[in-house]
Amino acid sequence: MNTFHLMFAPMEGQSDPALREQCYNNGATSTFTEMARVAALVRNNKSTWEKIDIPKEIPTYIQISVVNENNLARFLHKFEPQPGFLGFNLNLGCPSPKVIQKGLGCALLKRTAKVQRLIKIIQQHGYSASIKMRLGLNQFEKEKKVYLNLINAVDADFFIVHARHGMERDKDAPDWSVYKECVATGKNIIANGDITTKEQITELRAIGCKGAMIGRAAVEDPTIFARLK
Ligand SMILES: Cc1cc2nc3c(=O)[nH]c(=O)nc-3n(C[C@H](O)[C@H](O)[C@H](O)COP(=O)(O)O)c2cc1C
Repeated sequence: MNTFHLMFAPMEGQSDPALREQCYNNGATSTFTEMARVAALVRNNKSTWEKIDIPKEIPTYIQISVVNENNLARFLHKFEPQPGFLGFNLNLGCPSPKVIQKGLGCALLKRTAKVQRLIKIIQQHGYSASIKMRLGLNQFEKEKKVYLNLINAVDADFFIVHARHGMERDKDAPDWSVYKECVATGKNIIANGDITTKEQITELRAIGCKGAMIGRAAVEDPTIFARLK
């Protein structure tokens, strides 16, 4: 990861192919599909397969939510990459109680051995595997530095660190102080959470982040990528 990456975030109900294309045309280096549950893909759920469709050759990571290794292997066996596909991104950030109850999203943050196995399965199929994560399921896990354990223990191609824990809402300020220690692991770190200005990009570059991911600000105005370049 040599150049600084500007990524358009996975966003349920928002990051459809049309908006992904708009973000790309405005300078986003890559885009993400909204989260798709692998259990539903394995069941051949039509609307879930539509979520991961890449109808035009736009650089796109497919975001998946999975805990069961057999399901992941079954899905990957069926999967055929379309032009534009860059790799898979594992969701370790969704804080929804329904998702947590299934052991997915933020619930996976502390399961480092499990996450490493999931990432390895994807990589063994020849695909890039990255992670999008929060700092922990809650304040306690954040204080225990669950995020740092995970980054150290898992060989993902890059880690998108949304600098909030799972109990924090969008109005709570993200904690940018974590990026320095995340970067010190030597892994590829992408920052996420309330990034809207060129000054912030300059700060993140100085810390050593390899990129920034933009969500809500890009939904409001996809030309933000052109301004941040
Ligand atoms: C409506 C909405 C849907 C989202 N859907 C997803 C999703 O499917 N997968 C995911 O990893 N994050 C999802 N997120 C989180 C965003 O990707 C991003 O991490 C968060 O909005 C913080 O970045 P921002 O301040 O630039 O918006 C969603 C956020 C919102 C507001």
